[in-house]
Amino acid sequence: MRRYLGLCLLLLLPTLACRRPVAEPQPPGGAAEAPAVSPEKVELAGLHNVLRVSDRLYSGSSPEGDTGFASLQKLGVKTVISVDGAKPDVERARQFGLRYVHLPIGYDGVPREQALKIARAVRDLPGPVYLHCHHGKHRAPAATAVVQLCLDDRCSIANALATMQTAGTSPHYTGLYAAPGEFRRPSKLELDRTPADFPEIAKVSGLIEVMIEIEHRWDHLKLVRAAGWKAPPTHPDIDPAHEALQLAEHYHEMARRPDVQDRPEDFRRWTTASEKGAKLLETALRVRPAPDAKQAELGYKQAATACTQCHAKYRDVPRKP
Ligand code: HEC
Repeated sequence: MRRYLGLCLLLLLPTLACRRPVAEPQPPGGAAEAPAVSPEKVELAGLHNVLRVSDRLYSGSSPEGDTGFASLQKLGVKTVISVDGAKPDVERARQFGLRYVHLPIGYDGVPREQALKIARAVRDLPGPVYLHCHHGKHRAPAATAVVQLCLDDRCSIANALATMQTAGTSPHYTGLYAAPGEFRRPSKLELDRTPADFPEIAKVSGLIEVMIEIEHRWDHLKLVRAAGWKAPPTHPDIDPAHEALQLAEHYHEMARRPDVQDRPEDFRRWTTASEKGAKLLETALRVRPAPDAKQAELGYKQAATACTQCHAKYRDVPRKP
């Protein structure tokens, strides 16, 4: 009977392993430590949506200025991996003794080659490692989930998905949510053979570069809207109408790109609709003595709808095999 109980306990252990801290996990990838805890949320200045996955791995948002990088330094982080398309702030990171690695992914899934590179970087580069995307809610948790599957063979697909749920990854990102389930775990050999090619700044497509600019303007316009169509008190330097003008210009530039002109009709229509929305917003924000809030809202909504519709059809769906 005692032997039987012992066996039961042994069988139960692997399921518990992902939920409890384990003193000395032995990952298949061969590192001394591995992600083997259930992720916990952590509050840190200048960082958002931070999850502590293990002693070695954190997931979260891109660090905000010196405050964000100082929090990482205090945490003892040595390597920062960005999985979004924005150009990492390599210089600032260096001032805080941090090394950047840029391994971007899209919202359509985690391509195997990139997943293995990210896992190898987490396994082999000086830790702890902070893995981030822009908001820390979608792409970084998806990449983290796949890294857990690579480096901890006790971590089930359900555990990996739980990481994404804890981070608040939106169920709307079907491509990202499909990633852990479709992922085939690599052998140690496959991981060892993955090129240890870890750029500080990766090359991204021209469209992604435009999108990053658009996102930047859009983040500012969200603050402007929340402040009643005025310069936000936290960012008095923002010129609302100028932000809208720049947004319109980015869309104009986007529409002229050959790779956008080759896209289907609805894609081009959403690009044009966004530009029109941004122009309407700009005109409304230039009205004196006070901006025309009703027209501003109309222009803003028109641009927002185009973002959502275009992404839902062309960005967020699972990647084609
Ligand atoms: C007409 C289509 C379209 C519109 C409109 C559009 N996007 Fe995009 N966006 C895309 C596509 C396609 C991608 C994926 C590009 C890729 O990965 O190659 C993308 C990617 C992005 C990315 C990810 C960049 C990265 O880090 O990889 C962000 C952020 C983004 N868009 C923000 C926005 C915002 C904010 C708006 C609206 C204000 C918007 N986009 C409007 C098509 C669009």
